[in-house]
Amino acid sequence: MTAPSTAQSCANIAFIKYWGRRDHALRLPLNGSISMNLDGATTTTTVIFDPALDEDRVTILDAGTTAQAAHRVSAHLDRVRALAGITTRARVVSRNSFPMGTGIASSASAFAALTVAACAAANLTLDERALSILARLGSGSACRSIPAGFVEWHAGEDSETSYAETIAPPEHWDLRDLIAIVQTAHKDVGSTTGQALVDSSPFSEARLAAAERGLAVVRNAIRACDFETFGEETEQEALRMHAVALTSQPSVLYWSPETVRIMQAIRAWRAEGVRAYFTIDAGANVHVLCPGADVDALAKRLRELKGVRDVLANRPGPATRLIDAHLV
Ligand code: DP6
Repeated sequence: MTAPSTAQSCANIAFIKYWGRRDHALRLPLNGSISMNLDGATTTTTVIFDPALDEDRVTILDAGTTAQAAHRVSAHLDRVRALAGITTRARVVSRNSFPMGTGIASSASAFAALTVAACAAANLTLDERALSILARLGSGSACRSIPAGFVEWHAGEDSETSYAETIAPPEHWDLRDLIAIVQTAHKDVGSTTGQALVDSSPFSEARLAAAERGLAVVRNAIRACDFETFGEETEQEALRMHAVALTSQPSVLYWSPETVRIMQAIRAWRAEGVRAYFTIDAGANVHVLCPGADVDALAKRLRELKGVRDVLANRPGPATRLIDAHLV
């Protein structure tokens, strides 16, 4: 049995979204994307390769392990085994820091942590770029959780050139992400399914062209710590992604009445001079972005809104890293 290896990874929130793939098997995206790691939303994963096992054993603590999740983990371990030249089965134990059933996407932090822990357990030494490429094969957005802070995923020409790297370290900008939790049930349409429908939307091409232009706007605004330019483009991009989801065939509507209530509140507050913009992933929860100085006042306002069950605050988070606190 090998020694256990444990990695901790942050979830991330995309400002320019990954929504649509040009190669589903390799998870090559239609467009580049930009995100920030979320320091308060982490996955910790321990991997041990054990010759006594005849199949992989996957346990997701507190959440229950579905057969589908275990299968996706096993398929990812196969990629690591192929690179390391081993066939040994593994024990995998994983835990999320964010409350169970909050509807926060966990595949990014899950596959980033699994990639780093499994490579270490298999004695496979890969650089950050190779780890990002490998994580991408497990879940596209996971490639952006490998590097630290503010991150750009280059769409690339092929698998070797489609990876993520830091565009600014976590300490560069005190931007905060407040996740307003409105839904605790699992979303109906997973992002993997939603992504596969993109081509059926009549707005897909237009959104792609706008996202390409948005990449430069958001990248430059992050570098300049220009909150208004950053926020305007980020909010527009979220609406563009959802416009594509809404107009896919079949149509995908991720919002609930509470989602729209928060969107309207943010706009009303902004008209009063509050510095806040929203973005939304493939779910009903709303991510509210604000400068560090405004976080307490904004969190208070959000908590007072009807339908908001919890507010989770995040700063820019670190890279995926190995830690000593093993889960087994
Ligand atoms: C809306 O990375 O979950 O969060 O590659 O199928 O695992 P798969 O998709 P996933 O999609 C993330 C979609 C998004 C936008 C984003 O994070 O860029």
